[in-house]
Amino acid sequence: MNILITGGAGMLGHLLVSHFKTRHKVLYTTHLDAISIAGAEQLSWDLTRELKPLSGINAVIHTAAMTNVDQCQQYPEQAHQSNVMATRKVAASAPGAHFIYISTDFVFDGARGNYSEDDTPWPLSVYGRTKLQGESEIPKDGCIIRTSIYGLGSSPQRPGMVEKLISRLKNGETVQGFTDQIFTPVSTGNLALFIEEILERRLAGISNLGSTQPYTKYEFIRSAAQAFGFDPEVIKPGLSASVNYLAPRPRDVSLDTGKSRKTFKTEAWDIEKSFDSIRKEWEARQQ
Ligand SMILES: NC(=O)c1ccc[n+]([C@@H]2O[C@H](COP(=O)([O-])OP(=O)(O)OC[C@H]3O[C@@H](n4cnc5c(N)ncnc54)[C@H](OP(=O)(O)O)[C@@H]3O)[C@@H](O)[C@H]2O)c1
Repeated sequence: MNILITGGAGMLGHLLVSHFKTRHKVLYTTHLDAISIAGAEQLSWDLTRELKPLSGINAVIHTAAMTNVDQCQQYPEQAHQSNVMATRKVAASAPGAHFIYISTDFVFDGARGNYSEDDTPWPLSVYGRTKLQGESEIPKDGCIIRTSIYGLGSSPQRPGMVEKLISRLKNGETVQGFTDQIFTPVSTGNLALFIEEILERRLAGISNLGSTQPYTKYEFIRSAAQAFGFDPEVIKPGLSASVNYLAPRPRDVSLDTGKSRKTFKTEAWDIEKSFDSIRKEWEARQQ
């Protein structure tokens, strides 16, 4: 298959390029960071500009987005261009390709939690709103993944949440985990397997992909600390109100993954397996 992956320097995009390049011809886009990945072809594209049509693309995995929630709130027009118009342009650049769009659990207001694919989205922030609008820009036979993801960053210059946590814990800093934010995150490695199945079966429509049970951010960060050999007691419970966010944050964006559990052969990893795999990848990078 010829696969176009946007956001090749991002947390998810980078992992997907590495995952798919061994069995497929992968073309990936970069923007500010021209990261080079052996065995795949790079396109330096600002997705908010005019894009040249590509021929022979079988599938697109559109991970690129303006993902900083507070920056989206501050620069709503830029968020609209990056999350809505760019999705339209990417879809137009690869006509006929199976389109996979990475959406977010932030399309929900978080008042209730346990949202199914049929629940009506009600985003609280510009980020959530523009990602939801992006969902409408994909072809009718495309696939929308609603999720929350975690994994390693694409390079030491672009650390992910896990590396940032390890470095803070190594420095002996106190780390707070919010007890009033609930989600159902999936690791990038596990998500890659789900996307592989979506491609193989050319699945369409909305799929909630995430952990089989919800976690508070506090529980999640404690598990991460433990997986990397730190005493989980160093993580202190806190409330999100202690941080002065520009954009409102939803309280409980846990997703009901019941439909996906029936649809997919791929299984959701538990949090221990996910962190184990992330730790192994992290250790390999240290050598
Ligand atoms: N991380 C999460 O917790 C999470 C949760 C739910 C959903 N998602 C969704 O999952 C996807 C991947 O997230 P991620 O955390 O891997 O994102 P990320 O690390 O922030 O990467 C996003 C990528 O998009 C690229 N990009 C942004 N604007 C662009 C533009 N105008 N033209 C070309 N490329 C552009 C960035 O390139 P430059 O940096 O070079 O501009 C970057 O490589 C996103 O669509 C996000 O909305 C993420």
